[in-house]
Amino acid sequence: MTDRQIDIIVRRYASPPATSLGEPPKALVRDYLAKAFDLRELKGQTILEIGAGCSHYGRIFLDNGCERYIANDLIPERLAPSRIDDPRYQELPGDFLKIDLPKPVDIVFANLTMMFLVPLFPAFIAKIAKALRPGGLFIGMETNYWCPLSVLRRFADLKPNPARLFSPHRYAELYIRNGFVIERLVPFTARYGWTTGNWLLGTNFWLRAKKR
Ligand SMILES: C[S@@+](CC[C@H](N)C(=O)[O-])C[C@H]1O[C@@H](n2cnc3c(N)ncnc32)[C@H](O)[C@@H]1O
Repeated sequence: MTDRQIDIIVRRYASPPATSLGEPPKALVRDYLAKAFDLRELKGQTILEIGAGCSHYGRIFLDNGCERYIANDLIPERLAPSRIDDPRYQELPGDFLKIDLPKPVDIVFANLTMMFLVPLFPAFIAKIAKALRPGGLFIGMETNYWCPLSVLRRFADLKPNPARLFSPHRYAELYIRNGFVIERLVPFTARYGWTTGNWLLGTNFWLRAKKR
């Protein structure tokens, strides 16, 4: 099961990514991140991003005062377009389940990555718990499959597709079982603020969970 899921992910990303990402779109903080996280919380924090290949968030975190940003991705080549020339930037390529973390971090972040790992949730969430210091935060945005539009999009995507339908509520339950307190579990569709909190209309959701 594990190897098959990883194999689909590797096949999905068989073609090389674009050379460079450029500036993060302003909407990424305004319409997305702000629903779960205040940039002022970044001060002095060490952040590990799982599935950080081609992510705009590393730039946002570093520009807003995080102390260290660690980019992890299963496919090392996907880290190149989002690589940042900054002494606080560090790469930790490889399967998150197999990497060694020298010491616990303050924040684990994941954007549209956990939905690829549904069969591996128990192992992933246990490792996230292990990677965080007590009081540390997990913050992640994934597709909300209670929303019919998201289900439609999932099956319209004809590339090898590791995303599996899952319940955000059951997903959050696994964090609780691993010693977290849920601080925010909220569906939303970016730009359409009125969808915030509506599980049928919000195409994505944020989970913010604090490790006890
Ligand atoms: C849909 S992409 C999202 C990328 C990025 N977070 C963003 O927001 O643009 C999912 C990423 O998760 C990575 N990934 C999948 N399985 C992983 C694993 N086991 N360990 C680390 N990264 C993984 C993939 O290689 C891919 O880069």
